[in-house]
Amino acid sequence: MQPHTEHTEHRAARPTWRHDGIAFGCDYNPEQWDPEVWPEDVRLMREAGVDLVAINIFGWSQVNPRKGTFDFAALDTVMDLLADAGIRVNLGTATASPPPWLTTLHPEILPVADDGTTRYPGGRQAWCPSSPVFRRYALALVEQVADRYGSHPNVELWHVSNELGCHNALCHCVESTASFRRWLEQRYGTIAELNRAWGTSFWSQRYDDWAEILTPMRTLSTRNPGQVLDFHRFSSEELLGYYRAEAEVIRARSTAPITTNFMVTAHIRNLDYFSWAPEMDVVANDHYLDNRLADPTTELAFAADLTRGIAGGAPWILMETSTSAVNWQPHNIAKARGEMTRNAAQHIARGADGICFFQWRASAQGSEKFHSALLPHAGTDSDVWREVVELGALLDRLDEVTGTRVVADTAVLFSWDAWWATDADNRPSHSVEYLEQVHAAYTALRATGASVDVVHPDADLSGYRLVVVPALYSVTDSAAANLESFVAAGGTTLVTFYSGIVDEHDRVRLGGYPGAFAELLGIRVEEFAPLRPGDEARLASGATAKLWAEHLALTTAEAIDAFVDGPVPGVPAVTRNEHGSGAAWYLATAPDAADYRGLVARIADEAGVGRPVGAGPEVEILRRAGDGRSYVFAINHGAEPVVIDATGFDLVTTGSVDGDATVPGYGIRIIREEAA
Ligand code: GAL
Ligand code: ZN
Repeated sequence: MQPHTEHTEHRAARPTWRHDGIAFGCDYNPEQWDPEVWPEDVRLMREAGVDLVAINIFGWSQVNPRKGTFDFAALDTVMDLLADAGIRVNLGTATASPPPWLTTLHPEILPVADDGTTRYPGGRQAWCPSSPVFRRYALALVEQVADRYGSHPNVELWHVSNELGCHNALCHCVESTASFRRWLEQRYGTIAELNRAWGTSFWSQRYDDWAEILTPMRTLSTRNPGQVLDFHRFSSEELLGYYRAEAEVIRARSTAPITTNFMVTAHIRNLDYFSWAPEMDVVANDHYLDNRLADPTTELAFAADLTRGIAGGAPWILMETSTSAVNWQPHNIAKARGEMTRNAAQHIARGADGICFFQWRASAQGSEKFHSALLPHAGTDSDVWREVVELGALLDRLDEVTGTRVVADTAVLFSWDAWWATDADNRPSHSVEYLEQVHAAYTALRATGASVDVVHPDADLSGYRLVVVPALYSVTDSAAANLESFVAAGGTTLVTFYSGIVDEHDRVRLGGYPGAFAELLGIRVEEFAPLRPGDEARLASGATAKLWAEHLALTTAEAIDAFVDGPVPGVPAVTRNEHGSGAAWYLATAPDAADYRGLVARIADEAGVGRPVGAGPEVEILRRAGDGRSYVFAINHGAEPVVIDATGFDLVTTGSVDGDATVPGYGIRIIREEAA
């Protein structure tokens, strides 16, 4: 795929992240342990092959124990121990969580929830993103850290704060309110323009003065959707501004690259990482299997493909993941033996050049004591440790993969703006959730064996054969034109229901749905007809569908499938429209997984999408290539062995492969391709 031009421009002037091969890393919190333990930590890190260690992430109360006092003695010792062992450092700025002395001295930095109540210290990240007081203290600390270690030769990377916005993204305090007003004034210029954008003639919400505007606090009825949407945009930019402030302090004192860990996951949606990524020297993501979902392994694949899309196709770092269970889900499922390795391979196959874990040694105390680690409570005589050591050895053999890029001929469009707008109050069906619809489309695509880039609606689509547009409720004119020219030039698209409905102000595109895409798709929808939860409709093809139906009429499209029963019997449910030299398909309902996969496979075949032999719902096959090198990754999540096409050298078994290779049940193969 083509990288965003924006990304390339920003990157040119910046340091790039370089590691000797694929990084194998972890968060290291030595402050939780007696210093006597540290030499053993470093010895075992070397045994496992760990070569990039994140330290000082939650170090604030250690290195700055009281106002004006800084003490780096312990950190100096840890820095020396790691440097002597040849383990590179990913240095935290220590600002992730303010120490008790600061919140006691300045309670005004505490975040305020949408009901006006304060969120107190005692957990973590108890600070308001807009607070000038917090920023003053935090930047003073960053200055100290960067002065001290800015030219340290063992600092490979800077780690700004930690998971910015994980808990504190949306703040409603007086500072945040004032900052929101300034942001709106900048965006709209006049109050009249803001009134227009938010549609405030409805329910007597017209503003007469900027000072009347609040953040979307808890209300009696539902809130103004324009206000809610803009608050999301503001909050994402506000935290990015905070990142920028820390990065500037570091930049003036160090030439090492700077990043922060993103949370491209299913349960956090507050930061628009497409807008953040251009400011990172390397994109880093934290990802944990979410066992609350029906298919956590596919969600991992989606998140990794999206992370690569955010990075503009460039290699990225998996900054945190777990060897086994986490501690923050209602049921913390341990990974099966081998699952950690398959998960790591999934990330590398999707462009990660580093695999790092939270955390090095499992804590004995504190909230995360039951979170897995590289070194578990049981110690080195454990399956987890043995698999960690094996993974370290495998990652060493994979060093040659570094810098290659993932090859994909299919894209899914994704947008945080659409996510925020879609999951709003008062929508036609609360069972239609943006991410669920994106996951459903992605799951079907992945199951066909296609390799998928997940990209912004404005991305250059010219390199793809197929572009899938799931439930893109909100779409700008430029993004709609982008998709139209892709199809006109010969591409194939599949757009799914509840797409193209509103513009960027959440204003309905009038004249029939799906507004922005009606002409491209050759259809016109008069009215939505969502199904009740649990109800099903049958299609003429025999497929079963849920959630959605609509009063759809064909203008230039042909009907491929139709509802047999449900709210709109006889009405088309799948349509296909020839447009320019391409084809635009539309799916007006949510089919069962197998039916969805069947439809997508048919469209993928029509579009000429590559579907490697052996790939399927349980078997992922991806390729990374570049500089004359090419690697096939095969990851088998099922019990049955599968045979794939490949010729070359297998970096997993360290044996040659000639024409075909068997991937054992629950196994992986990573083959350096060589001409037969
Ligand atoms: C992340 C965080 C880590 C640790 C981890 C546990 O949210 O950055 O500090 O809490 O989750 O899964
Ligand atoms: Zn605030």
